[in-house]
Amino acid sequence: MIFRQLFDQTSGTYSYLLASRRGGEALIVDPVLEKVDRYLQLMRELDLKLVKAVDTHLHADHITGLGALRDRTHCITVMGEQSGVDVVSMRVTEGDKLQIEGIALDVLYTPGHTDDSYSFLMGDRVFTGDTLLIRGTGRTDFQNGNPRAQYESLFGKLLRLPDETLVYPAHDYKGDTVSTIGEEKAFNPRLQVKSVDEYADLMNNLNLPNPKMMDVAVPANMRIGLAQEEVRRKGWAVTAEEGLALLDRPDIVLVDLREPRERERHGTIPGSLSAPYPDLQDNVRAGGMLHELAARTGKRVVFYCAYGERSAMAVQAAQDAGIGAACHIHGGLDAWRKVNGPLAP
Ligand SMILES: [Fe+2]
Repeated sequence: MIFRQLFDQTSGTYSYLLASRRGGEALIVDPVLEKVDRYLQLMRELDLKLVKAVDTHLHADHITGLGALRDRTHCITVMGEQSGVDVVSMRVTEGDKLQIEGIALDVLYTPGHTDDSYSFLMGDRVFTGDTLLIRGTGRTDFQNGNPRAQYESLFGKLLRLPDETLVYPAHDYKGDTVSTIGEEKAFNPRLQVKSVDEYADLMNNLNLPNPKMMDVAVPANMRIGLAQEEVRRKGWAVTAEEGLALLDRPDIVLVDLREPRERERHGTIPGSLSAPYPDLQDNVRAGGMLHELAARTGKRVVFYCAYGERSAMAVQAAQDAGIGAACHIHGGLDAWRKVNGPLAP
């Protein structure tokens, strides 16, 4: 198991790099834009392949590294379902599992600091974002923050984890690096309240100044989506509407890049083949499943995913691997739904 806690001094942000083994797949939680070169260097040194980059919530105090990491590693960007960002590759919700090779994180919806705040539980440790900090809790006075929702997230969810669970927050300004649920229950001054009203009162009277970076960071973090326009300009995209007309054509094959849990939850385009994005390189190289399929049948490969990010990256990879006719559905299943495209369970 590889576990690294990385620190950005400017914003006091902790980022976490996880992998089950050297040479394997990696996931990063709450990466900071200015530190992206450092993360990439460390991953090269440890021989890791970044497959997922996750933000616990929309940050107001630093610019996220999600977009830059996706552009440089073609990883999947992940945020919660409620997040207002323009595009991420994948959205998760309470009860989901966030998986890479050898690691599965339980997804906990823990709103309050923001309405898109999530925590991620990995066995003996929990990544609490800004919901639970060491001897503190994330402020609740902007970005749809809500002290009552936060009280529920803390007392109803996080504090019910075993006392020895390690707490890894998104921030610390005092230099503390880790705590435990038991320790926070006993010593976190914000948690020594008797009721939700008392907690709301406490949080509503903090009178904190806005974060220095807020006016820059929030708008920047709202627009982290992949520029799918470039793929469209190359003629490698169809709109969802054009996709409808392709449905029953014998000369195309629709390829769904999403993971099993996403397919279960949102349905699939009828007749599509499943080939999850993490296996893409194996599938498109010469001898790979999609490469052979395209070569043997002459069919045009049409990729799709949730929002068009993974599929836009897949088209590029397929084209690079010599699958010349490959294209994708611009905007993904999200766009498909808007034109009332049919879905199979
Ligand atoms: Fe935050």
